[in-house]
Amino acid sequence: MAERSRSRGHNSASTTVAADPPLASRLTLRALQTGQASETDGADVIAGLQQTPKVLPSKYFYDDRGSQLFDQICHVPEYYLTRTEAHILKTYAPAIAEITGPCELVELGSGSATKTRFLLDAYGDRNQPLYYRPIDVSGGALKQSALALLQDYPTLSIDGLMGTYEAALAQLPPATLPSRMLCFLGSTLGNLSPTQCNRLFAQVREALQPGEFFLLGVDLQKSPQQIEPAYNDREGVTAAFNLNLLRHLNWRFQADFDLDQFRHHAFYNHRAHQIEMHLQSQCDQVVSLAILEFSCLLRRGETIRTEISRKFDLAALRSQLEHLPWNPDTKVFRVLEAWVDQRSWFGLLLCQIQS
Ligand code: AVJ
Repeated sequence: MAERSRSRGHNSASTTVAADPPLASRLTLRALQTGQASETDGADVIAGLQQTPKVLPSKYFYDDRGSQLFDQICHVPEYYLTRTEAHILKTYAPAIAEITGPCELVELGSGSATKTRFLLDAYGDRNQPLYYRPIDVSGGALKQSALALLQDYPTLSIDGLMGTYEAALAQLPPATLPSRMLCFLGSTLGNLSPTQCNRLFAQVREALQPGEFFLLGVDLQKSPQQIEPAYNDREGVTAAFNLNLLRHLNWRFQADFDLDQFRHHAFYNHRAHQIEMHLQSQCDQVVSLAILEFSCLLRRGETIRTEISRKFDLAALRSQLEHLPWNPDTKVFRVLEAWVDQRSWFGLLLCQIQS
């Protein structure tokens, strides 16, 4: 495994993770090139804090601790998304495996990769080879979930990539199996604005070959009474997750955010069909990010928006996918299947690239 990735020459250092020999021989993890010089790392943070109103990129939630907190969110009773999607996946994974045939699984934002197991089970049941390429910004989550999967699936090989979606899609190595399915689950798509969303679809289309698959899980529009509690859980895990973004910035950019001077605020924006998570400043305060040589003033009551979580209309999303702007190699998405749960709270779309 390590040999093969090294010889592919994707400009990234390849390391084999130390573990039991049989596990290690089936695992490689490597960091993607960021495509950004280190001195411009954090430019998105500065840009966001200079905007009115202020925003911070959601990807900074996911340091190792943030990934753990997100995992905890998936288990709080109010957060229906994970359970609902898992149920749909479990129900339709055999159909997916049948449609795609032998297929490498690539996952954007793999996290703890719990739901991936339904797919691996389905391919395993059909005696198909198991190859998994998780992609995540959290190296800790990547390594932990990979080791757990390798324990449970003796024929599985994993080649994990640490980095952002953009970097991964731009540097995606060629498939090792006859086909490939790119999985983007958990409604992470909801974090992207409509423009960013179209850009991501175009990048996915670019990264895949005709005949390859795209599996997309999205949270659907429904009564805000059902949605809002999922982002305001009684145990306060979501609040801790939101505040942890500041702790991450403190560590990463030597910033001095005082977590006690910010409050979690999440609400449904009806017009935009999205949950918004904010951090509200509890006083007038100046915050500095030493490594970025940047500081700014926050007024009491002012908020920093840390996340949008859009809720989708299934029919509109289908048509958006199938009518993306024209591209030079004329590849298009065809939506083969769109599955929902009994309440139609969550949707799972299986798409195929056609030329
Ligand atoms: C992982 C982006 C889908 O938007 O619901 C959970 C992240 N934020 N609770 C979401 C999240 C607050 C989650 N996504």
